[in-house]
Amino acid sequence: MHWLARSGAGVVGGAVAYFPEEENADTALITVTVHPDHRRRGVGTAVLRAVVAEVARRGRTAVEAWQVDEGGAGERWALSLGFRELRRMVLQRLDLPAARTDVPVPPGYELRSWVGAAPEDVVASYARARNAISDSPLGEADYEHPDWTVDRVRAEEAARRRQGVEQRVVVALHAGRVVGLTEVETRPASPEWLTQGDTAVVAAHRGRRLGLVLKAHMLRWVAAELPAVEAVLTGTGTGNHAMIRVNHALGYRDVRTWLFLRRAVDGL
Ligand SMILES: CC(C)(COP(=O)(O)OP(=O)(O)OC[C@H]1O[C@@H](n2cnc3c(N)ncnc32)[C@H](O)[C@@H]1OP(=O)(O)O)[C@@H](O)C(=O)NCCC(=O)NCCS
Repeated sequence: MHWLARSGAGVVGGAVAYFPEEENADTALITVTVHPDHRRRGVGTAVLRAVVAEVARRGRTAVEAWQVDEGGAGERWALSLGFRELRRMVLQRLDLPAARTDVPVPPGYELRSWVGAAPEDVVASYARARNAISDSPLGEADYEHPDWTVDRVRAEEAARRRQGVEQRVVVALHAGRVVGLTEVETRPASPEWLTQGDTAVVAAHRGRRLGLVLKAHMLRWVAAELPAVEAVLTGTGTGNHAMIRVNHALGYRDVRTWLFLRRAVDGL
């Protein structure tokens, strides 16, 4: 849902709220923004009140903001309203010409890739392997990783197709089963950007550079097939040193740090 705040000057601010389902149906994910020329006049707080009324009307009990710049106005605003920090995420950017992608596949593994729907012969082990993302450090987050099943994979693929989002997946196979994966998305409105989704390696297969191999292969594939893509963005928990190192090895640079903040709706 979207909100706009107007004054005689036109639109001076607004908000977006997402209402996730399943494991996180008690929470709304929100972003409130006020034009810099119109700050410190109560606009942000007024917009937040409107958002919170809708969140409460839907029976949800908490709001989370995931893209609050470390050290910025949003951090001070939210902390003054009683939000607490759950974790931090580093936003990293890779400009495709700068990518270092020459990484050999370790013996005993092979790579496979697809656009859109996972092939039937690997979808079951792909769904199982997706649950390995649950090991990524989420800090204090109350937000829960999804519980992946074949049905959920298919539902997610169908949702992406409806939205016109193209999803590319590269997996590592061991003895015919998926043991690692990385996925990216491109959106029709911004073909120059690639969004990195999950990257996960099943615990028993970690430490063999599969994370780096998977992401390197993905970047080579994208560079060959999607010439419009100029850059990739990815967000990684600040405590996830393994993934941050992999990204640096591929040529990513750190852009900024975002705070993840949460507050109960009660009393807002
Ligand atoms: C955060 C944001 C929406 C605040 O909008 P705003 O209209 O300026 O906020 P308000 O006027 O309602 O501020 C209410 C109170 O919050 C606190 N606050 C807001 N901005 C602050 C700042 N830069 N430094 C310290 N305290 C601040 C103050 O206590 C303020 O009351 P006061 O002005 O009487 O002292 C705006 O700064 C913004 O768009 N930032 C970028 C986007 C962002 O980070 N959003 C937050 C995550 S959802």
